[in-house]
Amino acid sequence: MRNNIVAGNWKMHKDLKETKELIEGIKKGLNNSEKGTSRVIVATSFVSLTTAVDAIKESIIEVAAQNIHQENAGAFTGEVAASMVKSSGVGVVILGHSERRTYFGESNALLSKKVKQALANDLEVIFCFGELLEHRKENKHFSIVEEQLKEGLFNLSAQDFGNIVLAYEPVWAIGTGETATPEQAQEMHAFIRNVLAKKYGEEVANTISILYGGSVKPNNAKEIFSKPDVDGGLIGGASLQAEDFVAIANSF
Ligand code: 13P
Repeated sequence: MRNNIVAGNWKMHKDLKETKELIEGIKKGLNNSEKGTSRVIVATSFVSLTTAVDAIKESIIEVAAQNIHQENAGAFTGEVAASMVKSSGVGVVILGHSERRTYFGESNALLSKKVKQALANDLEVIFCFGELLEHRKENKHFSIVEEQLKEGLFNLSAQDFGNIVLAYEPVWAIGTGETATPEQAQEMHAFIRNVLAKKYGEEVANTISILYGGSVKPNNAKEIFSKPDVDGGLIGGASLQAEDFVAIANSF
């Protein structure tokens, strides 16, 4: 069956010292707890990746990057290649986050290239997507999500799809304090799984973890994660405090 995953997206937060401190805090919290998710991931800035890889030793925590370039190498000043991320001891990368789509103009077509590059370098991908508020108001949220999935991922083989984790993040719920209701999350996650089943078959669809992201906090995580098609969360603000993040990881 699929894994439960809680992943923290630190975005542009935490320097090297803070990276170490936050990971130490999460480790301590997880060690002292009896239950929790099967996978706990922290996505740091590029600068903090090796420090984080060092700090997570002897724990279940995994480290992720937040982006890669679509090319393998070349004259792309300021960019980071998938192979570089891999060589720092990291096995996961977040792609398609709404902040990358909005502020850096990342399209579904570009993301499709990035996904291929990540997989070619043996990086697992947490692929983010989700509708804007106006899409939901116009009742276009299902078609937008389907389009993001099809254009970003559906040229992958079923085998490659095994290295994809999906993260549905309605843009109107990111950093706003406004969460999708557990029912809205379940409705969309079930829809996503159905879209996957149509393309890749029931078996693949049932093994893909689908995370919810958008204002997940210790006080709402349990209810959201209790829904049958919600396999965990991608956490922004609440992943920056060890206590909150551990509480969310223990919400299953
Ligand atoms: P918040 O949890 O701060 O709403 O952020 C969600 C997010 O963007 C995770 O990738």
